[in-house]
Amino acid sequence: MDLHTDRPHPARVYNYLLGGDVYFDADKHAAEQGIRSNPHSRVPPRENRAFLRRAVRFLAAEQGIDQFLDIGTGIPSPPNVHHVAQSVHPGARVVYVDHDPIVLAHAATLLDGTGETRFLKADLLDPRAILESPEVRETLDFDRPVALLLIAVLHFVGDDQDPYALVAELLAALPPGSHLTLSHLTGDFAPEAWAAVTEIFRRQGVTMRVRTRPEVVRFFTGLDLIDPGLQVLPQWRPDTDEPPASDAAVSVYGAVARKP
Ligand SMILES: C[S@@+](CC[C@H](N)C(=O)[O-])C[C@H]1O[C@@H](n2cnc3c(N)ncnc32)[C@H](O)[C@@H]1O
Repeated sequence: MDLHTDRPHPARVYNYLLGGDVYFDADKHAAEQGIRSNPHSRVPPRENRAFLRRAVRFLAAEQGIDQFLDIGTGIPSPPNVHHVAQSVHPGARVVYVDHDPIVLAHAATLLDGTGETRFLKADLLDPRAILESPEVRETLDFDRPVALLLIAVLHFVGDDQDPYALVAELLAALPPGSHLTLSHLTGDFAPEAWAAVTEIFRRQGVTMRVRTRPEVVRFFTGLDLIDPGLQVLPQWRPDTDEPPASDAAVSVYGAVARKP
């Protein structure tokens, strides 16, 4: 298993920023460099996990969804998708997908569900391989609505890799009533800070492409955005009275939309 421990990897940098313990020196170095150019670097991962949990609870409890395809899962940081989904629907099914071998190495934590939960090591850049995999075919019933989760992963897909076509191909395979839940880094509120972070990743050989609001909205083409539409994460159906972090500190948009 090649873990490429000599260069930073998004999943491990993210785990470091979340306060986890799954990272190597190169990941810590990149994260600390990021913190120097953007002192709020720990806010987006924290808000992103909170959004993920609110969105999955909403999908399960209010939209009746009990099947989830989570691409770009990340190193487990409980509660994970199946914990939240199965607290509403005990038999909820979840397929976790990530291309990082270190996520695979921690997949056991993702497989402790009471319902059927599977892990697939595959690449978002190859939707067909995901859709045709036994893990997906044996776990998810494509005759019933599925929630596709693309949480904090599309900003690792460059424009030359046609992220809009990838999302469209995945959605085309899902029946009406399915949902897309997506979050995405933006440079709209702190362009210089995010240009610096993007450059740190680029120098380490990692693509990062923050996107503007219209560029993120475009992922939802053909879908019905659910109220309150695309928001900076703390403004999406907040479940706390605490004052939200500033838009510049969060710098992540998120939304849930339904396939008509
Ligand atoms: C920032 S983490 C987000 C983790 C989780 N979705 C969350 O929101 O907490 C991004 C994850 O996407 C994965 N990833 C990046 N590019 C990917 C690709 N092309 N295919 C599959 N996974 C990818 C990384 O390995 C990493 O685990």
